[in-house]
Formats: sequence, structure tokens, C-alpha cells
Amino acid sequence: MKIVSLVGARPQFVKEAIVEEELNKRGIEEVLVHSGQHYDFNMSDVFFKVLHIKKPEYNLGVGSGTHAEQTGKSLIEFEKVLFNEKPDLVILYGDTNTTLAGALAAVKLKIPVAHVEAGLRQEPKDMPEEINRVLTDRISKYKFCPSQKAIENLKREGITDGVYFTGDVMYDIFLRFQRSVDHAKVLEKYHLKPKNYVLATLHRDFNTDNKERLSSILRAFSKIGERMPLILPLHPRTVKRISEYGLEGLTKNLNIMEPIGYDEMVALTTKAFRVVTDSGGLQKESYFAHVPGVVMMIDTGWIELVNNKWNVLADADEEKIIGGVFNHPTPLHGNDEIYGDGKAAEKIVKILLNP
Ligand code: UD1
Repeated sequence: MKIVSLVGARPQFVKEAIVEEELNKRGIEEVLVHSGQHYDFNMSDVFFKVLHIKKPEYNLGVGSGTHAEQTGKSLIEFEKVLFNEKPDLVILYGDTNTTLAGALAAVKLKIPVAHVEAGLRQEPKDMPEEINRVLTDRISKYKFCPSQKAIENLKREGITDGVYFTGDVMYDIFLRFQRSVDHAKVLEKYHLKPKNYVLATLHRDFNTDNKERLSSILRAFSKIGERMPLILPLHPRTVKRISEYGLEGLTKNLNIMEPIGYDEMVALTTKAFRVVTDSGGLQKESYFAHVPGVVMMIDTGWIELVNNKWNVLADADEEKIIGGVFNHPTPLHGNDEIYGDGKAAEKIVKILLNP
């Protein structure tokens, strides 16, 4: 079996790392393609380095642009790779523009698609990631679901064929890094004490591309920062918006830094007092680390973590964000295997070999 995998943005590199390893173990030929959606060292190369991902055979050089530009360029360039490689299957991850483009290019050439992290759904329905998810699931042959909720979501849309509960590949790799990373060394590097700082990230367009929402979030961060160190590895777009909107005054109490690599992120998450984020991945990783989280969204694909009180939804509301950090509800302990048993990648590859 010959597989082509397509990645392009940070969370996809993390997922690829563990699936690639399983494919290797079983001697399955895999051609890796990078769309180039993320291209900065801190947004891309550092992940390949730390996660030991092989060098992609192709880089589509897509870069930044409008949604149509990113999706369109990936579609055109990826099709050329598929013509060239003629794989039996394409593997895609998550919900980015890269994902949707890959799915479209493959199915039109009648190449089956395996979608890893299928079935997530959330409001608002017009956000780019939600559109990418719905469309990709609809045309994928294999829908690998990280949670039971994802399976229910697909069922509600009448999708039941090729749907598998595998657990979450991000859980697999998080557990591994949590065991191997030198937590104390990372904390020392950033001058932090365990359970005495807040780890925050902020990059989603609905939060960054609206001055009012961005100001409200930064005000909350600033007030949190008066009481406890708040560290903010910041996405390049957010940096740009802060400057465009002239909001630098709200960042005085914050410890802003460049985006950081996966290994350091695992350590900083594990030792945090609270995590505040609008990242789909990090809101779950904080749960993996048993750190209560505050999610700056109105809804989430990982709603089970709101139901069991590990996460609270705070939208861009200043008071709710601060309240989520300092008056977080007590999380309920229960099913430890919401996202599987840490062997999602192994299950995925076994299914691909024996559907
Ligand atoms: C994308 C995904 C999002 C995911 C995120 C992870 C889509 C629709 N969204 O969002 O689901 O959570 O990746 O980070 O695909 N930029 C740089 N350097 C880079 C990459 C981006 O400067 O290496 C800047 C550019 O100004 C660019 C902006 O960030 O226009 C947004 O990047 P883009 O890839 O379009 O989307 P993300 O917000 O990263």
C-alpha cells in the first residue's frame, strides 16, 4: 500500500508524527507532503525537528493568503503530486484549509481519503475550520473519530459508513512527551514556578481580527497578569493585529514570546496553574495534563470537557476569562478514556490494513 499524507499547519505536524511512526513500523510506504500553509521556523520547522518527522518529499509553497488563495493553491499543487505518486490512499488531519484542499484533490481523482480527527462539530457554523470539517468528513472514506461525541455528530448527519472510534492521536503523543520532557529545565528557562503561572494562547480569527474582542481578551490577560505571571507564546497574526489596532498598551503585564516547540509546550501545559486558549489542540492537552482550562470560544468541538467541568467557555468576555482562571469550577473525574487509551495511531493503521 502506498500512502500520501498531507500536512500544512502546526497541529497537523503533531498528528503526523505519531501516525508516521506507526506506518514505518509496519513498512508501509508513505510520501509526505507539506502544503506550506505554515512556513515560519517557529510555526513549522521546529515541529519537524522536535517530533522527528521526516523531511517532506514535496512542499507546495502555499504560504499565507485568503481562504480561496490557500485552498485553491493547495488544490492545484496537490493534484500534481497525486498524478505523480498515484497513491492508494491519502491521509489528512484536522480542519485546516490544507485539509479541505487535500480531500477535494484526492476524491476527484478517485483516491480514497482517510480523515484523522473526523466528526468534530461546533458553533459558529460559518467559521472556516467548521466548514472544512463538514466538507472533508462528507467526502472521506475513513472517518477516524477521536471521541464518541464525534461519532454521534456524524450519525446525526447520516454518516455511519467508514466511521471508527480510534481515540485521539494527540493523546498518544502527549503522553509520550510528558514522560520524556525535562519539565524543570523548561520552567527554569522561562523563569516560572510550577502551578504558579497561567499559560495562554490566542490565534483564532474570530478573536484576533476584531478589535473589540481582541481588546477585551487582552484586558483580561492584563488583569490576570497583575496577580500571576501570564505567559503568551503568540501566533504571528495576533502580533500583527495588536500592532495594527494599537493595543500594545494592554500587553504590559504579559510575558509575550514567539510560538514555541511542542516539547516545551507539553512541559508548560503540565506545570501551569490554568490554561487559557482558543486553540482546539491546547484546550484538550490541558485536560490530558489535568490542568483546568478556559476556552475563548462560544462552543467547542471538545464539548465533553465542558460537560465534565475541566474547561469553561468564556468567549471573549473579560469577566468570564478572569473568573475561569481564579474561580474555576471543580472538575469531575470519571471516564479516563474519553480520547482513547493512547494507542489511536496504532488503531488507525491497523484499520487501514484490514478495513
Ligand atoms: C490555521 C488553521 C487553524 C489552526 C491553526 C494552527 C485554517 C483555516 N486554520 O490557522 O484551524 O488552529 O492553523 O496554528 O486553516 N502566519 C505567519 N507565519 C506562518 C503562518 C502564518 O506569519 O508561518 C500569519 C500570516 O499572517 C497568516 C496568518 O498568520 O496570514 C494566519 O495563518 P493561516 O495559516 O492562514 O491560519 P492560522 O490562523 O494559522
